[in-house]
Amino acid sequence: MKALLLLVLACATSRALSAEGDISFEYHRYDELRKALVSVWLQCPTIARIYTIGESFEGRELLVLEMSDNPGAHEPGEPEFKYIANMHGNEAVGRELLVYLAQYLCNQYQQGNETIIDLIHNTRIHLMPSMNPDGFEKAASQSGEMKDWFVGRTNAQGVDLNRNFPDLDRIVYVNEREGGANNHLLQNMKKSVDENAKLAPETKAVIRWIMDIPFVLSANLHGGDVVANYPYDETRSGSAHEYSASPDDAIFKSLAKAYSVYNPVMSDPQRAPCRKNDDDSSFKDGITNGGAWYSVPGGMQDFNYLSSNCFEITLELSCDKFPAEDLLKSYWEQNRDSLVSYIEQVHRGVKGFVRDLQGNAISNATISVEGIEHDVTTAKDGDYWRLLTPGNYKVAASAPGYLSVIKKVAVPHSPATRVDFELESLMERKEEEREELMDWWKMMSETLNF
Ligand SMILES: *[C@@H]1O[C@H](CO)[C@@H](O)[C@H](O)[C@H]1NC(C)=O
Ligand SMILES: *[C@@H]1O[C@H](CO)[C@@H](O)[C@H](O)[C@H]1NC(C)=O
Ligand SMILES: [Zn+2]
Repeated sequence: MKALLLLVLACATSRALSAEGDISFEYHRYDELRKALVSVWLQCPTIARIYTIGESFEGRELLVLEMSDNPGAHEPGEPEFKYIANMHGNEAVGRELLVYLAQYLCNQYQQGNETIIDLIHNTRIHLMPSMNPDGFEKAASQSGEMKDWFVGRTNAQGVDLNRNFPDLDRIVYVNEREGGANNHLLQNMKKSVDENAKLAPETKAVIRWIMDIPFVLSANLHGGDVVANYPYDETRSGSAHEYSASPDDAIFKSLAKAYSVYNPVMSDPQRAPCRKNDDDSSFKDGITNGGAWYSVPGGMQDFNYLSSNCFEITLELSCDKFPAEDLLKSYWEQNRDSLVSYIEQVHRGVKGFVRDLQGNAISNATISVEGIEHDVTTAKDGDYWRLLTPGNYKVAASAPGYLSVIKKVAVPHSPATRVDFELESLMERKEEEREELMDWWKMMSETLNF
C-alpha cells in the first residue's frame, strides 16, 4: 500500500516538476542531497539508479546517481562516463550543478528531447555530487554568506583528497626515460591500495570505483577559478609551473575545449582574473595544461589516466568557492550546455570489440595507436573505446598468446568509428602451419611418387 502511494505521489511530482524552470536552485545539505537524488530516481525510475561507493571518514555515504537506459549494468559496447564534484568540500558549485544536471536529464528525457534520449540510451552516466560530504557540511555550517577560503576543503581527517592519490606521474616519468608501462600502472597492486594507511576512505572508495567500472571519460568539478584543466597536473622536472604534455595532449585539449566553448564566462578572452594577483598566463580559450598552471602531485585527474582507461579533466567553475545561493541559477545557465557537451565527447575516436576467431571476447587486450605512447585495454566483454582527435591512424590490437592485428582507421570528429578485431591464437596458427606442412609433404610425395 505504502509503495503504491509513493508511486502515485511520484507521478504527481513528476508532472509538477517537468519544466526546467521548476528546478529549485538552492544548496542541498547532506540529507537534502539524498532526497534530491531519490526524487530524480522516483521521477525517472526506468533510467536512474542510486548507489553508494562507500562512506566518508565520518560515515556519510558517497552517493552516485546513475543514468542510463539499463541502470545497474554495463552494456557491452556502451561507454561509461562520470562526473565527480565537491572533492574539496568547500567548493560547492559543482555539487549543486550535478543535482540540477540529474533533474534536467530526467525532465528532458520525459519531455522527449531527442539529444538527451540518445545520450542516455547510448551512454552509462554516473554522477557523484559529493566526494567529500564531511568537508561540505563543515563549510556549509559556517554562519553568514561569506565562507572561509579553506574551511571544509579537506576531509574530516584533514587530508586534501586531490593530493592523496598514488603519485603515478612519478612512475610514468621514470618509465618514459628508462622504458616501462605507459598505462594501468596500478595493475596487480590492488591489495597495496587496500592496505595503504595513507589513503583516506574517500580516496580508497574512488580508486576501487575507477578499477571496477570501465570508465572512458570523466571530469572532476572544482571551484576557486574558471578554467578547464587537462593532464598532466604534475610537472616532469618538479618545477612549480611547466607545460606537462601527456601523450594524449591533442585529444585532452579538444575535450577541455568541448567544455569551455559553451561556457561564456570560461571562454571569454577578456575575462579578468578571479583575484587581482592571480597568474592566469597559462589560460587560453578557457583551458590550461595542469602543470603549466601549477604542479599538483597525487591528484585524481592524472591518476585516472595512468591507472585506468579513463580520461579525466578538472573543471574550475567559479571564482567564489561557495557563492551566495541566489547565484546558483546563473552558474547552471553558464554550465548547462557545457555539461551536456562534455558527456557527448565520450562518443569520439574508435571503439569496438576484440574477439578470437570463434567469436569469444578477449578481455584485457591492448589497443595501441601508432605515435601515441599510451595504450588502452579491452573491458570484460572485449569492448574498448579509444578517444582520438580527427585524423588517420594505425590502431593495433594485441593480447598474450594471439597474433596482433593492425588496422588503418579514418577518424571523423564524431561519432566514434567502429573497428572490431579478430585475433588468431598462436596455438591455432601453429596447428595451421602443421597442417600446411603436412599438405605440402603429401603433395610432394605424390608428385615424386615415393
Ligand atoms: C534538448 O537538449 C539539448 C541539450 O541539453 C538542448 O540544447 C536543447 O535546447 C533541448 N531541446 C529542447 C527542445 O529543449
Ligand atoms: C592484463 O594484461 C597485462 C599484460 O598483457 C598483464 O600484465 C596483467 O596482469 C593483465 N591483467 C589482468 C587483470 O589480467
Ligand atoms: Zn578544488
